[in-house]
Amino acid sequence: MSHPTGFSVIAIDGGAATGKSSTARGVADRLGFLHVDTGAHYRAMTAALLKMGVQPLENTALAEALEQIKLETAVDGLHAKLIINGKTPKGTDLRLPEVNAAVSAFAALAPVRSSLFAYQRSQTAVARHHKLPGLVMEGRDIGSVIFPDANFTFFLFADESTRIARRAQEGQTDQISERDKMDSGRKTAPLICPDHAERIDTGALDLAAVINHICERVAHAAP
Ligand code: DC
Repeated sequence: MSHPTGFSVIAIDGGAATGKSSTARGVADRLGFLHVDTGAHYRAMTAALLKMGVQPLENTALAEALEQIKLETAVDGLHAKLIINGKTPKGTDLRLPEVNAAVSAFAALAPVRSSLFAYQRSQTAVARHHKLPGLVMEGRDIGSVIFPDANFTFFLFADESTRIARRAQEGQTDQISERDKMDSGRKTAPLICPDHAERIDTGALDLAAVINHICERVAHAAP
């Protein structure tokens, strides 16, 4: 599949278990773009802060801990991985019940979000450095805050029963609606569907159809 000449950014946002990761990975594989999962960034920060004994509160303990955290990137195939203080957290560690339970509370804190803002924006430089033609970034505020100027902006949604069934299939305990309430209700960078985003119902379309749809949008924009 062709893509526009020049570098493209695809922003994919949506609530918990709406299929963002599978979609973003599929699109990245098809287009040869770098895939960046910003949920994993918040999960890695949460795991690191919990390990440092920090509570999800905006206080000096949090500020001091954030100052000690150094972020770098490793690229594995087409996937960008966050390296936090020299270590790449394992996928299973990022989905532990204690991380699931605390991640939305940490993600609601402005200092946590601002410590990731420049890092996330800098992922375009990582993709360019690896000579990749673009970037697919998934999260909650990619189209609204991180890349409001993205070339393509999508917002995924699905009914709650589909989302609960998805997590159950993955063998996971997750507080989907509680996390969505916290993510949508927070003051800083809440989960919203940007006006310019295209909404996709992932309960009505299967994964292959969603990936095809996004890749076709990119192909049709090609000169
Ligand atoms: O996509 P996920 O379920 O792995 O995300 C974990 C949490 O991280 C989610 O509850 C909210 C937060 N998050 C965020 O606030 N902003 C992002 N861009 C990505 C995730």
